[in-house]
Amino acid sequence: MNEIGGEFWFDPQVATGDRGGLPVFLAEKFSPKNHDYFFTSSGRSACLLLLNHVQPKKKSVMLPECTCETVITPFVHAGYDLHFYEVELDLDIDIEKWLLQYQNTQPGIVLLHPYFGFDTIACVREKYDEIKSDGCIVIEDITHSLLSRFPIPVEPDYYLSSLRKWTGIPDGGVLIDCSKNVPITPPNEHDVFFVSTRMEAFALKNLFMKDENSDGKDIFLSIFAKAEDHLNHTTEPTAMSEISSSIIANTDWNEIFQQRRENYLFLEKRIKDFDDLLYPVMDSLPESFCPLFMPVWVNRERDSLRNHLICHRIYPPIHWPIPQHYVQNKLRVHEFYHHCLSIPCDQRYDEACMSRIIDLFAAWRNV
Ligand SMILES: Cc1ncc(COP(=O)(O)O)c(C=O)c1O
Repeated sequence: MNEIGGEFWFDPQVATGDRGGLPVFLAEKFSPKNHDYFFTSSGRSACLLLLNHVQPKKKSVMLPECTCETVITPFVHAGYDLHFYEVELDLDIDIEKWLLQYQNTQPGIVLLHPYFGFDTIACVREKYDEIKSDGCIVIEDITHSLLSRFPIPVEPDYYLSSLRKWTGIPDGGVLIDCSKNVPITPPNEHDVFFVSTRMEAFALKNLFMKDENSDGKDIFLSIFAKAEDHLNHTTEPTAMSEISSSIIANTDWNEIFQQRRENYLFLEKRIKDFDDLLYPVMDSLPESFCPLFMPVWVNRERDSLRNHLICHRIYPPIHWPIPQHYVQNKLRVHEFYHHCLSIPCDQRYDEACMSRIIDLFAAWRNV
């Protein structure tokens, strides 16, 4: 029984061909806009690159209270004051509350991120022009919505994204400059240790996935962990490797878009049978959206469901553990962090895999 979830791995078949120009998903999404693109080794690296160049009116940033530690750390390294804004339990933003906090805080930077491929920040986007005219820098982290094609009437000053969450590449991130307010000097060097360590892990995972009864899983997991640990301690931006550029230029992003949607829609239809136990955090999936995962709210013992899935080789991540830098103690936020589970629905899987997950929900109900 194949495992579902876990790190993408490297398929040598797709890493051939030219480096190519702008990957098609970015060209389609942002053309004919005349933006500048800087490819970096990770989402964090894109943020570090940006923070090395911009000079906000104040070294303070407004960030969502539900986010990943890795979104926060570049600001911590750069000495910013952190202000967390509320996110509703359906991951939308209450614009009245948000604006009040913005006006009271008058931050130098605001960072927004849509969640899981859905456009959860449309109400703030309507205010971008006002915010920018205050001299505040607007950053959209599009790591979760990279392939979604929702309308963007007003753009931020910068987009940034991790690319590693979408397919098997050793490294990858991008910073997109829409404002061109300051010249950005991209890094030249890539992170040799990070790339070679992840390539080593990919090679072992590739072997393991061909024979899941073989040994070696602990080894590649510890190698992946070593690479992440290295990234966690990196404080200077680095460029994306040639191999990742080649893979993203030669990947069929439309196929990824379609397969993820199909899997999500299948889960969405079948998950209704379990609404006493769990339900999707998001409303139904609009046509132009591409999901990262299906986040579900688990009413009963989330960790028991997670362990049950793991016992059957399904590895749903938790987005996210409570960040170390989130020191407020709001019950609602803790609820979110303790009830949500992200069900994998990416392009590696098909309807049979999604069915397996649904069958396991049914089995868990009777535990
Ligand atoms: C929204 C978001 N932005 C940025 C990052 C950081 O990306 P990377 O791990 O490539 O630095 C993550 C990581 O999970 C993320 O979820």
